Amino acid sequence: MQETTQDFAALIEREQGLPGRHFTDEAVFQLECRAIFEKSWFCIGLSSDAPAKGDLSPVTVFGQPLLMVRDGTTVRVFHNVCSHRGALLVKTPMHGGPRIVCPYHSWAYKLDGALVATPHVGGAGRHTCPSIDSRGLGLRSVPVAEWAGHVFVNLSGTAPPFEQWIRPVEERFGAIRWDDLRRDPALALSLEVAANWKIICENFVESYHLPPIHAALNAANPMEQHYQILGGHSYVGQGGTGYQPDQVAGAGLPRMVGLADASKYEALVIFPNLNADPADPKSYNFGPTDRLIKAVGAIHASGLTSGSRPSNANSGTCQ
Ligand code: FES
Ligand SMILES: [Fe+2]
Repeated sequence: MQETTQDFAALIEREQGLPGRHFTDEAVFQLECRAIFEKSWFCIGLSSDAPAKGDLSPVTVFGQPLLMVRDGTTVRVFHNVCSHRGALLVKTPMHGGPRIVCPYHSWAYKLDGALVATPHVGGAGRHTCPSIDSRGLGLRSVPVAEWAGHVFVNLSGTAPPFEQWIRPVEERFGAIRWDDLRRDPALALSLEVAANWKIICENFVESYHLPPIHAALNAANPMEQHYQILGGHSYVGQGGTGYQPDQVAGAGLPRMVGLADASKYEALVIFPNLNADPADPKSYNFGPTDRLIKAVGAIHASGLTSGSRPSNANSGTCQ
């Protein structure tokens, strides 16, 4: 990286964008992974991805396989790697019961990660071995927090306390019933966008592409009535004061509980990777594995009718 933070500050002062290679260079992306994503609280999915005790939900971020585990009311996240010979423990979402069993030699772990079975480790029919101390061979956990139906991890273990990190978001948007959101297979969206993740975030909170790209949405949510939402290093967004969701053809999602004003529209990027849209209930989290972006998780309010698929004016080809 050639630029310094002073260089970036100067670019911002001149209202210029980042140099082009910050959107195309794999080395820059790898640096962002180390310096931003791994050191932040990073959203890896929804609480409802593993709702019942024993539910196991694998997810890979930055090439690292992780495993979300529901243990009673607690969600845990471990490296999805067996302590024996490093086999991948869980490949697809499943209900695993009281134990996580490795598919290779059947070492078994409790839901809190403790190693509890090492079949035949001392030879045929001998399930212990003096030189194997299972107390130090549990699954490796990752710091995890749940907030409003979303699950966050901090891979480096050096992020500020989660409560401190989420406080500005909580203060500004805490009245919204985010945890009503559930993944709906009919609305699920998983796509790779041919653009750098920073473009995706910028696109989500700028409205002046609405008239050419989303003309119908612009009619129901005119860019002239938009305003900026600035939350320092915590979040950024755009809002609109004249939103008329009933005029958006095909949008069947009910509005979320907690929005103060039914005519308001607000879309947020909660740094670094959670995009949320409470006006049309859904959120997206990005789990980049390279400079292409994978956006996951169109969701809607639990128990409410989704109506027709919202492939309307709010979808499109913005890239
Ligand atoms: S690698 Fe998991 S039990 Fe051997
Ligand atoms: Fe768009």
